This record gives sequence, C-alpha cells and structure tokens, in this order.
Amino acid sequence: MLSLHEASSKQSDKSKPNLPPGVFGLRALPYVSKLAKDPIGFFQLMHERFGKTALFGIRQIPFHIISQPEDVRRVLQENSQNYHKGIFYRELGRILGKGLLNSEGEFWKKQRKLIQPSFHRQRISEFVEIMAEETNKTLLNWKGQSNLEISKEMMRLTFAIVGKTLFRTEVESYASRIEASLKVALEITTKRITRLFPMPFSWPTPENRKLRKALKDMHSVVEELIAERKKNPSNDLISMLLEVKDEETGETMSETQVRDEAITLLLAGHETTANALSWAFYLLSQHPDVWEKVRNEAVNVLGDRTPGLEDIQKLAFTRKVVDETLRMYPPAWVIERTAMGDDVVGGYDLPRGTNVSICIFNIHRDPEFWEKPNEFDPDRFDEDRSADRPKYAYIPFGGGPRICIGNIFALTEATLVIALIAKAYKFELVPKHPVVMEPLVTLRPKHGIRFNIVST
Ligand code: HEM
Repeated sequence: MLSLHEASSKQSDKSKPNLPPGVFGLRALPYVSKLAKDPIGFFQLMHERFGKTALFGIRQIPFHIISQPEDVRRVLQENSQNYHKGIFYRELGRILGKGLLNSEGEFWKKQRKLIQPSFHRQRISEFVEIMAEETNKTLLNWKGQSNLEISKEMMRLTFAIVGKTLFRTEVESYASRIEASLKVALEITTKRITRLFPMPFSWPTPENRKLRKALKDMHSVVEELIAERKKNPSNDLISMLLEVKDEETGETMSETQVRDEAITLLLAGHETTANALSWAFYLLSQHPDVWEKVRNEAVNVLGDRTPGLEDIQKLAFTRKVVDETLRMYPPAWVIERTAMGDDVVGGYDLPRGTNVSICIFNIHRDPEFWEKPNEFDPDRFDEDRSADRPKYAYIPFGGGPRICIGNIFALTEATLVIALIAKAYKFELVPKHPVVMEPLVTLRPKHGIRFNIVST
C-alpha cells in the first residue's frame, strides 16, 4: 500500500503511482480546520484549488475526492465490490450492528436479496395509507398553531410513518421508546464522527456511558417487539423480516439480525426524508408561485379522497419539486468508501486503503451539468431537459448495487406529504429566522426552520 509521503501531484518517476493533485501531511492542517468548521466549503475549496479529482491526507489517512460522474460510476457501480463503507460507518456500526447499511460482501448480498421484496411497489402501495393517515394527524395537530419548527415536525412525522410500517399501530408505545434512545445514540454518534480525535469508546466517560445505555435500551425494546411479533404475526415489516426465507437455502434471519435491520430501517428511513421535506418547504416558502402550483395539483389530483399509489404518479409537478429539493439539499450529502484493492479512477491510481469521498452536494451543483445550479427550478427535471445529463450527475440515493433500498418509499412519502400539506396550508418563514445548512451525518438546517402557518 502507498504511504502518503509517496504521493505527489508532479509524478516524474514511472514506478511511483500517479496520484491526483492535492494536499497532505502538515500542509493539510489549514484544510483540516476548514473541514471541521465548514465541510461543504472544504470540498468546494478542494475542487477550486485542485480540480474535480483531488487528494487530501491527514494522520496518514489518504482521502481521494472524486466529482466526475464517470469516476463516481466506477466506484459505486462498475467496480463496487472493491469499495467498502468508509470510516464514518465504524461509529455508526454501534447503532446499526450488521444491518444492511453497514454490512459488506456476501453477507450484505444475502441480506439485500432477503429485504428487497419488502420494498417492492406492491408493498409500498400498502404503506401509502399509513403515510396519508399520519400526515393528516399532523395537519390536525397544527390547527391554530403558529411559529412551527418544521424540521422537528417532519422528524416526528417521518419517524411515525416508518415506525408504523415496521411495527404497526398496536405497538405505538414501543416506537416512542425507541425514538428516545435512538435520538440520544444518534446525537452522541454524530458528535463522535465530527470530532477529529474521539475518546475511545472503551473509556468510561459520561458520554460513552450515556451512549451504552441508549444502545442497550434501544436493543431491548426492539427485541421485545420481535418476541411479540413472533407470537402474533402482523402485516408489518418486522413480521416480513421474520418470515422471509432464502430461496436457495431456505434459511431465515436470526433474531439479532432482524433487530439490526429494524434499527437500520428506522434510522435510515426517517432522518433523511425529514430533512428533504424540511428543505422542500423552505424552498416552497421562498417561491410562492411554485407553492401555488403544488397546491393546485394536489387539489385536482387528490380532491378529498384518501390517496392511493396511483395518485402519487399523477402528482408529477410535486415529484419534480421533490427531485429538485434532493438536488439542492441532498440529505445524504456525502458518500464515503474505502478501497479494498488498488484501482485506477479517472486516470489516477487509487491505491488499496485509500478513502474515497463523493460529495453529492457539489456534484449536484456543478455548472457543467446544471444550468444556474443555485436556482430552484423544478422543471429542470422535465424529460427534454434531462436527456443529456450523465446519470451519475444526480445521485441523491447513491448508485450501483448499494443504491438506497428505500428510494421509492422515500419519493412516494415525500411527494404525498408535500401534496397533503400544501393542499391544507401555506407557510411563511418567520422573519429573521436564520436558515443555515449543517452538514453532519445528514444535511440538516442548523437552527431548524420556523414557519408561520397561513391556511389556504
Ligand atoms: C430522501 C430520503 C432518503 C435519502 C436521500 C437516502 C439516501 C441514501 C443513500 C445516498 C444511500 C447509499 C449510501 C451509500 O452508498 O453509502 C442509502 C442507503 C440506504 N437507505 Fe436510504 N435514503 C433515503 C430514505 C430511505 C428510506 C425511507 C429507507 C427505508 C425505509 C432507507 C433505507 C436505506 C438503507 C437500508 C440503505 C442501505 C442499502 C444497502 O447498502 O444495501 N433510505 N440511502
């Protein structure tokens, strides 16, 4: 494996690897503080200084930053088996165990095959009812309220939706217990990920003890629930995971594995969609004409009926609003991988052990692929305007075999929630409320987003 000291932007010796231009060792220190304070700004700076492929190295750990769609395709699709989940996932692994987001190789492949059918269109159509029911409950709660913090509201709503699809109504109390411990675990893990030198987890610091307790509580609630579902199967995702059998071997999932998958789906399935919805309402509040179009479409398509999956396909303009929001504010704003073997990407050597960073945020705002990239323009997703765009220039759900398993679930949910809310209300941003991006594990609004509700 290469050491960082071997890396050079001006390679003359043929025996030395051809690495991209970049910065490492002591020279990287000023960039480290930029990375800690403003991670998106860091990726933009690397792009400006060194181009679309750049090398960055701290503490002997090389990061190869790629932004060209063809290079992204190489890593996520063509040679995906060479790339495992990156260093962030080591921390997240404490919460996710060996769940789908965090597993690798043959084990991941087997799990993906077992879980995939739970996300087929036909299953999603069963979940639409839950999505609509939970959104309507939220709308009722908002009656008479002003100064609403939308990201909290959306977190609550998307958690209720994914919680119900996993656990169904009779076990609502379990969901609220998991929500509390998951929140603590996620907050501490996020802090650990963003610290340059996190305390070893084995040290009995107050924070580590709090994290241990949250993980234990979360595991015991989900395990209780699994035991209950084994006795009384329902039509929820947990029961599906318990029943599902490998076609070839007839093998079922162990209870610990069902637990890890359930926690993974709960986590991956609510925070990302909540952020997407919060940013969508922010953008809509800044573009009242677009809000009006969304509202009119919702009134025409949905009327006062309970919506079904076939209605979602007719909400074509709202769907473009979702797509454009995911372009401008991709909730999973960066993808990380580690190379298991040597590779060549974009003409540069990418040696084994290198970390690969794919900054989705920057790719989605690259003027080479997006006209006026900082402008909100849902119609850019019209077929005739999208035809020439490389597939890997738009990757809100990642790509290749590890593409988000919940992408149709999320797109259906976001389209429906926006339509139902826009039909009932209009929001105005609370004057002077600062709307600032906070790119942590997901891209959140740092101070939340506050709206006054105006009934339509
Ligand atoms: C707008 C909402 C969402 C966004 C932007 C999003 C984004 C992503 C991305 C980018 C990945 C790939 C990560 C990587 O390659 O490192 C991913 C994977 C995943 N997502 Fe989502 N996601 C969303 C919603 C959901 C939902 C609703 C669920 C489940 C109910 C879900 C479950 C998962 C799982 C289990 C994986 C891992 C798949 C695998 O590795 O096989 N996501 N998501």
